Amino acid sequence: MKAKYLVVLGIRPDIINYQPLVNEFKRKKIDFKIIHTGQHYSYFFDGLFFKQLNFPNPDYHLKIGSGTQAHQLGKLVQKFEKVLLKEKPDLVFSFSDANPALSGIVASKMGIKVAHLEAGMRSYDWRMQEEKNRRLLDSISDYLFTPTSSTKKNLIREGIPPHRIFQVGKPIFEVLNNFKEKIDKNTILDELNISKGKYFLVTAHRPENVGVKKPLGNILAALEGVYKKYEKPVIFPIHPRTRASIKKFGLRIPKGIKLLEPVGFLEFSKLEKNAFCCVTDSGTVQEDTCIFKVPCVTMRISTERSETIEVGSSIAAGVNMAHIMDAVDKMVNKKSNWKNPYGKPDFSKKMIKILEKLDGEICSPKVWWDHPKINSSKSISQYKTKWKNPSVPDEIF
Ligand code: UD1
Ligand code: UDP
Repeated sequence: MKAKYLVVLGIRPDIINYQPLVNEFKRKKIDFKIIHTGQHYSYFFDGLFFKQLNFPNPDYHLKIGSGTQAHQLGKLVQKFEKVLLKEKPDLVFSFSDANPALSGIVASKMGIKVAHLEAGMRSYDWRMQEEKNRRLLDSISDYLFTPTSSTKKNLIREGIPPHRIFQVGKPIFEVLNNFKEKIDKNTILDELNISKGKYFLVTAHRPENVGVKKPLGNILAALEGVYKKYEKPVIFPIHPRTRASIKKFGLRIPKGIKLLEPVGFLEFSKLEKNAFCCVTDSGTVQEDTCIFKVPCVTMRISTERSETIEVGSSIAAGVNMAHIMDAVDKMVNKKSNWKNPYGKPDFSKKMIKILEKLDGEICSPKVWWDHPKINSSKSISQYKTKWKNPSVPDEIF
């Protein structure tokens, strides 16, 4: 393959989900660079995942950090543009729906081709930044790599030409498969003195759930209710935003809830795989639990992972206390014999095959001003302009 790729990541699930593709790129000696936007930076969100997933160090670190949506977007636009000018890639990979994926918008503005991984997912919940990001990315991407037949249908319904859509399955299925042995050997259950099927696992980090007092209070009350009813501890690796909100709103941590700092990928996957039930507002956790055949209650009114609802591995319960408790009752009282909707764990193989096929097209100029015939000194002189190409800075940042 001749194409040069940039892989952009910035948050915990990006590192996890890019593992199979980056691993294949390395193995096949494909020309690629990793750009870390720096949105997640704490060791338990960042360095620990690079280490556990044996992920190569980033070639660029944009150090964007935390802040408002506009702060993160503004910094990304300014800093990523410099990388693009320097690296001149043929294609930029944007993953899913978090702010690092907006790197695709910057690339597209500069006439560089964009591939969107996990394209076509829709929650139709416009309160979520992620829904806006998904729509933006899908509308400007040249290549849309979509996980399932229903996400493919979403794209076709929105008018994306079918020849730009490629159904490739779920990267997380391959990641969990690649790390199966390490997950199974992990000792977190012994360390926490808990055993298989005898605890609940909880995560909550969405601003609309934990950034507002009422829904966060409801979630804590529901967890207390679940603990009292089932007499099983509730293991809760807590996101820093959620911890800060509990303090700010003066909420009480109910009895039976064991708060932990966020844990590593191996520890968390082991906890998921052996849980009695997971209660979460995370996107990837809905997928993990579906694959592990562990019941999941999704604390959201909608989900872009609609296949988990369709096969019955999850219920979208919202954040009303009674609804969460009711959904837990339903999920733990049914058989976990749903069909895995994610096909085979062969995402990276499919990706490489497609990229090999598309290589010529990916390497060809995309926009008219990049075309060698048009962009010659002759054609520029026709317009008698003194306009010069912007020079590439020697040093960036
Ligand atoms: C982000 C993504 C979300 C994704 C989640 C995965 C967006 C809009 N949101 O949400 O889609 O589900 O990551 O985990 O891109 N903080 C730390 N350490 C860090 C990073 C953040 O303590 O390394 C704290 C900061 O106080 C920060 C807050 O967490 O303000 C929120 O971080 P941010 O990256 O803005 O959003 P997430 O909720 O993590
Ligand atoms: N995860 C983890 N430690 C934790 C919580 C989650 O390793 O304490 C992992 C977990 O394996 C899951 C992924 O992070 O696959 C989920 O990411 P997150 O909930 O942060 O983001 P989302 O998927 O909602 O964007």
